[in-house]
Amino acid sequence: MNNKVAVYRKEHFNAAHRLFNPSWDDAMNFSVFGKCANPNFHGHNYDLIIQVTGSVDERTGYVMDMKELSDIIKEHVIDVFDHKNLNVDVPYFQNLIPTAENICIVIFNILREKLDSKFEVKVRLYETERNFVEYPV
Ligand code: NI
Repeated sequence: MNNKVAVYRKEHFNAAHRLFNPSWDDAMNFSVFGKCANPNFHGHNYDLIIQVTGSVDERTGYVMDMKELSDIIKEHVIDVFDHKNLNVDVPYFQNLIPTAENICIVIFNILREKLDSKFEVKVRLYETERNFVEYPV
């Protein structure tokens, strides 16, 4: 019997960023990224949805303990990203442009390593209510 279920945990963080490719001049950066290339940074209220898919454990009735999932996300993602300047404060973006796409991939890679390999993991990141990305696809 297929008893796979997807469980979801929603989290939230605030962070600042600047979209800027250092190999381009300012004009090219503003042409590609518009206001997001503003040198003084700007912030977003990010919503994050983590999907974990796995078989329901017969002993617990859970796919995984949601408290444990919440604790892992908090320690390894929220505490690292929340109220930070992603370009300046978060080492993952020292050489990576902190677009929603790249933030989503970074968060996936962090959580993939922390969660049991028996689970499928997917990350959806909302940069605004209307703009969101998902990885992997
Ligand atoms: Ni932005």
